[in-house]
Amino acid sequence: MYRTHTCGELTIKDAGKDVTLCGWIQKSRELGGMTFVDLRDRYGITQLVFNMETNPELCREARKLGREFVVRAKGKVRERSNKNLKIPTGEIEIEVSGLDVLNKSELPPFTIEDETDGGEELRMKYRYLDLRRNPVKNNIILRHRIAQEVRKYMDPIGFIEVETPFLIKSTPEGARDFVVPSRMQPGTFYALPQSPQTLKQLLMVAGFDKYFQLVRCFRDEDLRADRQPEFSQIDCEMSFVERDDVLDTFEGLAKYLFKQIRGIEFSEPFLKLPYQQAIENYGTDKPDLRFGMKFTDLTAIVKGHGFQVFDNAEFIGAISAEGCSEYTRRQLDELTDFVKRPQIGAKGLIYLKYGTDSSLKSSVDKFYSGEELAKWAAAMNAKQGDLVLILAGEKTTTLSALSELRLEMGNRLGLRKKDKFVPLWVVDFPLLKWDEDEKRFFAMHHPFTSPKPEDIKLMETDPGKVRANAYDLVINGTEIGGGSIRIHDADVQKLMFKVLGFTDEEANNQFGFLLNAFKYGAPPHGGIAFGFDRWVALLGGQDSIRDFIAFPKNNSGRDVMLDTPSAISDKQLDELMLEIKKGKKN
Ligand code: AMO
Repeated sequence: MYRTHTCGELTIKDAGKDVTLCGWIQKSRELGGMTFVDLRDRYGITQLVFNMETNPELCREARKLGREFVVRAKGKVRERSNKNLKIPTGEIEIEVSGLDVLNKSELPPFTIEDETDGGEELRMKYRYLDLRRNPVKNNIILRHRIAQEVRKYMDPIGFIEVETPFLIKSTPEGARDFVVPSRMQPGTFYALPQSPQTLKQLLMVAGFDKYFQLVRCFRDEDLRADRQPEFSQIDCEMSFVERDDVLDTFEGLAKYLFKQIRGIEFSEPFLKLPYQQAIENYGTDKPDLRFGMKFTDLTAIVKGHGFQVFDNAEFIGAISAEGCSEYTRRQLDELTDFVKRPQIGAKGLIYLKYGTDSSLKSSVDKFYSGEELAKWAAAMNAKQGDLVLILAGEKTTTLSALSELRLEMGNRLGLRKKDKFVPLWVVDFPLLKWDEDEKRFFAMHHPFTSPKPEDIKLMETDPGKVRANAYDLVINGTEIGGGSIRIHDADVQKLMFKVLGFTDEEANNQFGFLLNAFKYGAPPHGGIAFGFDRWVALLGGQDSIRDFIAFPKNNSGRDVMLDTPSAISDKQLDELMLEIKKGKKN
């Protein structure tokens, strides 16, 4: 037996016991004739003590130990004179009588402590060392706990976990596929699944009734704090259900996770907000409802006073920031620069200050009388002390710029608190989105998402107006999950492909396996997939999912530890009958 205990479990109750511990040397220090060594493992840190007077030989050995050496120490637990009440083992130490160095270590490239001197790139390169640090290790343990809780919730209510293949067929929906060349059939490729969408639908045709899977998904898309090229989903599908059956089941899961992991209880049902309303009120389909600042449409009341910016705008929208009427010129300039950033795209920012002395001051008061400005303030329900921020322009851009401005003000005012959670369902998404470049409709979700039955009649006459039976779970401004009721009726599916511009042949080429399966009795079904990494980051109180993935990729999609993507050998290329094109990619 290598050890009798871990480095995290011995307390004052164990004083007097003979024990053997194993672990890594965190640090050591000499004090008079004594050497103190912190021994670390996954469970904690225990202090080892060596005494030059009573055991000089062992003490000299201990002084040779370097950081991150792996050792085994035998000794007796004793009460410490200088106690550290911050850690569970802080009242005891081990008076060491035997020491084995199990392995030496080179000097690590950064300090392996909660606060480290290592930059992101360096820590990622040596991720296995980074993972020894408490904050990172605890994130991975949290991830494990949440996975266990998911299974604990799903199993008793009849969901079975089924694994689906990773080498599947490329389908041109959503993001780009990662592809894998086939050696046995040169010139052909598998694709890695962007999600097990079609496979879980086949499991419904197979009669599994309730399926779930904690599954890896792969998408070749631009990366952000909440996006990785490979990520995990809690993927789910159910048969013989309507929308609210799915929402109730998974609202249950969400509430269960909040309770088990954070001790938070939600007694009320989650708000169900139609997509259109989300866009009009917050400019986004994933509104952060931890704070208000709903939009007001000022278009009708501000036009027609000779101010060109407003007169020429399709839409004029505003938010009211409480207690900000004293904002200085500099602060307003900062906000103007913020909305003018290319990725936000507003042309400028107009304000109305409603002073605590009832004064109304605006950047455009030469066009508007005091009475007019009072009308704006009334329309906004603004109070004394508020700052009204107004954007104008093309409707879609202005709504989305105002959404960014709202979030920025939420940040500035400290309204986006990490320990507050406001979940909601966004429902009734549009079924289709128009692509101006390709001059055709695309499925907003995927081509198997069902339209709302009452909108089917619009499919051919006004496709842009058709609402989908689709839903997203949004928490604190992040899309945590999304799903839909699927089409199981062959005629509706045909109509959908027609609107998407697929010929029968194209539909069969790409989705023949599913369309065929649907000929053999597809039950009505629907489901959802949650971004598991996003759930974990949210419950862990952080924004970046990378911190909760053991071996993540960087923002350019590289694994700097494995140093990949990387070239493969000519032999491998030959076997695959592949050739790398010379020159630059165009
Ligand atoms: P969707 O594409 O909305 O739906 O994905 C479901 C959820 O997965 C998470 N997610 C991601 N997380 C990290 N990195 C990424 N690159 C990434 N992309 C998506 C999000 C998202 O809400 N098959 C459908 C679901 C269904 O209809 O049942 C699907 O995959 O949290």
